[in-house]
Amino acid sequence: MQTLSINLPQKQYSIMIKKDLLPTIAKHISMNHSNKKIAVVTDEHVDALYGNILMDSLSQQGFLVTKIVVPPGEKSKSMTMLEYLYGQFLDFKISRSDLIIAFGGGVVGDLVGFAASTFLRGVPYIQIPTTLLAQIDSSIGGKVAVNLPNGKNLIGTFYHPDAVYIDPKLLETLPIRVLRDGIAEVIKYSGISETSLFEDLSRYRDEQELLENIHSVIATCCEIKQSFVEKDEKDTGLRMTLNFGHTIGHAIENYFNYETYTHGEAVAIGMARITTRSEALGITKPGTSEALIGLIEKYGLPTTATDYNQKALLESMTLDKKNSTSGLHLILLAHIGKSLIQKVKPDEIHLYL
Ligand SMILES: NC(=O)c1ccc[n+]([C@@H]2O[C@H](COP(=O)([O-])OP(=O)(O)OC[C@H]3O[C@@H](n4cnc5c(N)ncnc54)[C@H](O)[C@@H]3O)[C@@H](O)[C@H]2O)c1
Repeated sequence: MQTLSINLPQKQYSIMIKKDLLPTIAKHISMNHSNKKIAVVTDEHVDALYGNILMDSLSQQGFLVTKIVVPPGEKSKSMTMLEYLYGQFLDFKISRSDLIIAFGGGVVGDLVGFAASTFLRGVPYIQIPTTLLAQIDSSIGGKVAVNLPNGKNLIGTFYHPDAVYIDPKLLETLPIRVLRDGIAEVIKYSGISETSLFEDLSRYRDEQELLENIHSVIATCCEIKQSFVEKDEKDTGLRMTLNFGHTIGHAIENYFNYETYTHGEAVAIGMARITTRSEALGITKPGTSEALIGLIEKYGLPTTATDYNQKALLESMTLDKKNSTSGLHLILLAHIGKSLIQKVKPDEIHLYL
């Protein structure tokens, strides 16, 4: 088992990565949590595939468990679902010394993390991420949130889990589009960090070979995220580097009403687009966008959007909570493996879109 430790001023927790970890997670939990009551929250897909394995092993360790299942998909990251969870926690009489488990992708992780952070002013929780995106990104770093009809992640906080248990075997059942969503974030990490990740991704034949090497890919991504989170826990500076491709990506998702492109696809388009533009502006080393676009295409992700409308994107970007009126910070690549944060004035943003 590979273990990483996240060290923050107020919180320290471990990320454990091991193939076939799921059936033994209960044992690990029993070593660290003396209280016996656990509420497991998952979604219908994950429950159908893996719910019994986790619930049986928790029961065998003597935990008193309940399972709360929410519908799959982004719609569950809502105030309505949050209220539903609070009700279920009340029925189960969860106290602040009990435990909540978020067992699913980023939707379940964000929803349950936020519910845990606010219920009774904070109940400890554990993340068992089940998508690639959740295993390398959303389960680490403490950002938890629900959506409002006006926009995504508008109600949220920072609340770190007590532990993150990653079982790469769970990824074998992911639909290809969901897997590729995670691969887009892996490509993002490979662009912004000085690791061998970009070469590794370039060397692998396809997703299959990537999956054969998934343990080391996940570990590298977690290490990269860990370093950004430890340096800038509350996302006021360096951590925004993780938004590479995301400013345009969010605008594309929003412009197409979250229907045409998945998050990963939109981020892939965003990374390709901004790097092409920054290269044309002479900021990025020549050849970088070609290399990046080649990698994105190899993993079946889009690099352009049909009906791309720069004006509409600009408008939707002003609604993004991360954009201040004085301009915004864009993440660019100096070259593969080196990112930079560029402060861009409002009247210059169009040059990068
Ligand atoms: N908190 C953060 O730092 C952070 C970072 C990035 C993204 N996010 C959030 O993450 C969310 C997206 O997460 P996601 O991409 O994991 O989507 P998701 O949670 O909606 O999961 C995608 C689909 O895969 C299914 N699924 C999950 N695990 C499976 C498995 N092992 N086998 C088969 N099917 C499985 C789910 O049921 C769902 O249908 C967004 O809401 C986004 O805002 C949060």
